[in-house]
Amino acid sequence: MRTIIEPFRIKVVEPIRMTSREERAGLIRDAGYNPFRLKAEHVLIDLLTDSGTGAMSTHQWAGVMEGDESYAGARSFFRFESAVRGIFGHTHVIPTHQGRASERLLCRAIVKAGDVIPGNTHFDTTRANIEDTGAEARDLVIPEGLDPDVEHPFKGNIDLAALERCLAEVGRERVPFVLITVTNNSGGGQPVSMANLRGARAICDRFGVPLLLDAARFAENAYFIKLREDGYAGKTAIEIAREMFSHTDGALMSMKKDAFGNIGGLISINSDEWADKIRTLLILTEGFITYGGLAGRDLEALAVGIQEILDEDYLKYRIASTAYVGRHLSEAGVPLLKPYGGHAIYLNGRAFCDHLPDEQLPGWALSVALYEHVGVRACEIGNVMFGTQDPASGKWRWPALDLVRLAIPRRVYTQSHMDYVVEGIAELYQRRREIRGLRFLHRPAVLPHFTATFEIV
Ligand SMILES: Cc1ncc(COP(=O)(O)O)c(C=O)c1O
Repeated sequence: MRTIIEPFRIKVVEPIRMTSREERAGLIRDAGYNPFRLKAEHVLIDLLTDSGTGAMSTHQWAGVMEGDESYAGARSFFRFESAVRGIFGHTHVIPTHQGRASERLLCRAIVKAGDVIPGNTHFDTTRANIEDTGAEARDLVIPEGLDPDVEHPFKGNIDLAALERCLAEVGRERVPFVLITVTNNSGGGQPVSMANLRGARAICDRFGVPLLLDAARFAENAYFIKLREDGYAGKTAIEIAREMFSHTDGALMSMKKDAFGNIGGLISINSDEWADKIRTLLILTEGFITYGGLAGRDLEALAVGIQEILDEDYLKYRIASTAYVGRHLSEAGVPLLKPYGGHAIYLNGRAFCDHLPDEQLPGWALSVALYEHVGVRACEIGNVMFGTQDPASGKWRWPALDLVRLAIPRRVYTQSHMDYVVEGIAELYQRRREIRGLRFLHRPAVLPHFTATFEIV
């Protein structure tokens, strides 16, 4: 059979409220032309993020009922710790309420002003948390990772020569760790190869610098390795995941992605000294060390989810169903990042809206038009998210890629929902010259995309 079906049945449904184009034009205008400010009930198909938006399984819901809500030493924590350690293999497992809490705790505990954190492409909250300590988040993805049209099996790889140069130039005293994001979300959901992790490990060892993973999508990365890297076709996803983590000293994770969680995160680390510092801060701002800002029922759901995600029927469907969207959009001539990511398809905003200059925020304008046209909400990862303005000259610096991410929630939408998305985007592409440019009305200083407002140029 060529058809790959959703490997689940639907037991509970949530109605989608239909809206008209006219209604949506008013709604997005009232939201300051920022899709983040829309009410979710006004969105037909929500591809804003795959974070925390997945559907939990029957086993996860059963786990919820078993949640032990004891303040300290809850049974749910030990299930969580054992599930995580069985895959990650590090000494200390510290729960947090989500990925950015892990980032904040790690940065506050370990990073100091003037430090440099090299990575492939730091995610926006990771970058913000690093910069908040006065350190620099340095992106060193391979050159292919910056070209939306180049086909490369592991476009998320860190440039090993650049990493070596960076460590030699900055020195180990100012590099507390190297952080590689798998898959590379801000670089198009592209995977990192095992060979690259091995190479990074060897360089880190030479300089005495710890290597950490941002493991938000570790299972999708493992499955890409199985599909694309020599020597891994016969290995299981869990074996590959364990091998990935074996090259590291620790990991951060937003468990709202590859743990099927609606909330949750973790820090998994070998260093006793770091774990001590992190747990002290955890108690200060998140909660006791055996719940870290989560309820016992959340820990149960995550313990089940992080094992379920490694089911190969699921991973095969996940990668194939995302590629299905990419392939059909590509056949309609829509410019997008290739190869297709694991959790998302990334439209090339600049190429889609080639009548709009960078100042008119082509990717953002596309995301607004997409909502207006067919009620699909997507997330710009480009000029608005990463553009910076020089305070002295007022000149803007735009990121290498201006993308619009169609992030696909896990186990939520069916193929017909995706057919609707493809048809809507293909139609909008035919009418792309009607898409109007935007400019900032209000731009917050930190993570502007979440709350900024815009006006039509
Ligand atoms: C790679 C990566 N790291 C970190 C985060 C932050 O996680 P959270 O949203 O749980 O705070 C995200 C969220 O999208 C992510 O994709």
